[in-house]
Amino acid sequence: MLEPSNLNNFANIIETERGDMKFAYVQNDEIDYLELFDHFLAEEGHHELLDPSDRIERYTYLINHNQSKFIFKIDGGVENRLERRLIAKITGDFYFNLIHKLAKISQDKCDIAYELYLVAFDKKTKRHYMIFNFIEGRSLTRDEMKLHGEQVKNCIEKLHHYNLVSNDVHGGNFILTPDGKIKAIDLTNSGFIWLTKANDAIELQERFNIKIKVPAMAMAIKKFTHGFKRLSRKIRGKKV
Ligand SMILES: Nc1ncnc2c1ncn2[C@@H]1O[C@H](COP(=O)(O)OP(=O)(O)O)[C@@H](O)[C@H]1O
Ligand SMILES: [Mg+2]
Repeated sequence: MLEPSNLNNFANIIETERGDMKFAYVQNDEIDYLELFDHFLAEEGHHELLDPSDRIERYTYLINHNQSKFIFKIDGGVENRLERRLIAKITGDFYFNLIHKLAKISQDKCDIAYELYLVAFDKKTKRHYMIFNFIEGRSLTRDEMKLHGEQVKNCIEKLHHYNLVSNDVHGGNFILTPDGKIKAIDLTNSGFIWLTKANDAIELQERFNIKIKVPAMAMAIKKFTHGFKRLSRKIRGKKV
């Protein structure tokens, strides 16, 4: 299979607008990601759908282009909560920040996450579109997450170093490659990243008994709200 990554110029993220669409994409002399995007949209629905999640308006497709595989993702999630919308105003569009942060990871050859080649935002429909590299390998089971604990820990700690978070730590959001590497996919965030780092720490500890260091203030706030949510579910008679 051809490796598109060799020709990716992660130092050059091109930003452009076209009608209602806003784009940011990695410059590549061989693959025009904007063209690939148009190509995909024209054929939407004709590709293999991976693990369709139950949330509406979130689709993941596997696409083949000139012997290379890509992941095409659509996220139509609209944030309705006022405080989240305010935070998004302050911090900027998550996916447009993500392309820059992942580009830095790729430039550093850090090899801990997927690569992001294009982000598009449709101002009319509020949908985000993304093109990632397809990572050969498979998702991890819960036991495998524990078994590869050191690697998972290293992966999340490095993500945090680049000011990224998983925000949904489970085996389905990591790929174990044939050469034994662990890579994070499906990076999301809602709210302030420094605070969400504590979500990762709590999930790692509770689900896989993995301990990582995060800012003490973030941990204190999250533990408080975490406990509070549990308590309120208990009071309302729901399963905790
Ligand atoms: N870059 C990728 N490389 C390989 N497989 C992927 C990639 N992105 C997604 N997948 C596969 O598709 C599944 C769903 O993708 P994900 O981004 O986790 O979507 P969702 O938001 O629905 O959880 C993953 O669990 C994984 O099996
Ligand atoms: Mg996922």
